[in-house]
Amino acid sequence: MVEINFVGLGLGVTLTLLVVAIHYARGTGWTATGDISQEVLEQRASTLPETDFPEPMNRSIGGGAAPAGAVTGGEEGAELEEAGEAEESDPGDIPEDEIEYFEVEFAKQGETIEVANDEPLLDQGEDEGWDLPYACRQGQCVSCAGQITSGGNAEDYVEHDNQQMLDDAELDDGYTLTCVAYPRADFTIETGEAP
Ligand code: FES
Repeated sequence: MVEINFVGLGLGVTLTLLVVAIHYARGTGWTATGDISQEVLEQRASTLPETDFPEPMNRSIGGGAAPAGAVTGGEEGAELEEAGEAEESDPGDIPEDEIEYFEVEFAKQGETIEVANDEPLLDQGEDEGWDLPYACRQGQCVSCAGQITSGGNAEDYVEHDNQQMLDDAELDDGYTLTCVAYPRADFTIETGEAP
């Protein structure tokens, strides 16, 4: 026969309720981190190796998919806004009656093809069935880089659609990002060549 000690049971229940009441009366002491996303971004940035080219938007603090100026203000916000403005004028947005064609020699493929000025070089090379290198296809890495070997600045031959990776010296050496490069003249290119 089980005997129930009602005094002990009552005391236990009362103490439990008391502890619970005190716990909630004092709160948990937990407070939300002020700006957790910034902290995560900084942590991520500190683990990335240094590069000798400008960081793409998705690797920079305050970059990524956030709208211009939403995460950071000041200079960086202004830069993002400028990038947004630049995107508005698409060099591939050419009326049909103004489309021009140029002769481009793909040195490694050993062929010269006719390319239109309203489509990126990478796409037109792929149309030939060539397995050309690429990753982001947005001018934000250097996977698709190639070198125009016709002499002079790459932008004498192609117009980039908002590329963010090559600096002036690299453009002077003829480097281009084929995924966002719209032909503007005849030239020779070595694909798969990064600065
Ligand atoms: S594929 Fe990334 S810049 Fe062209």
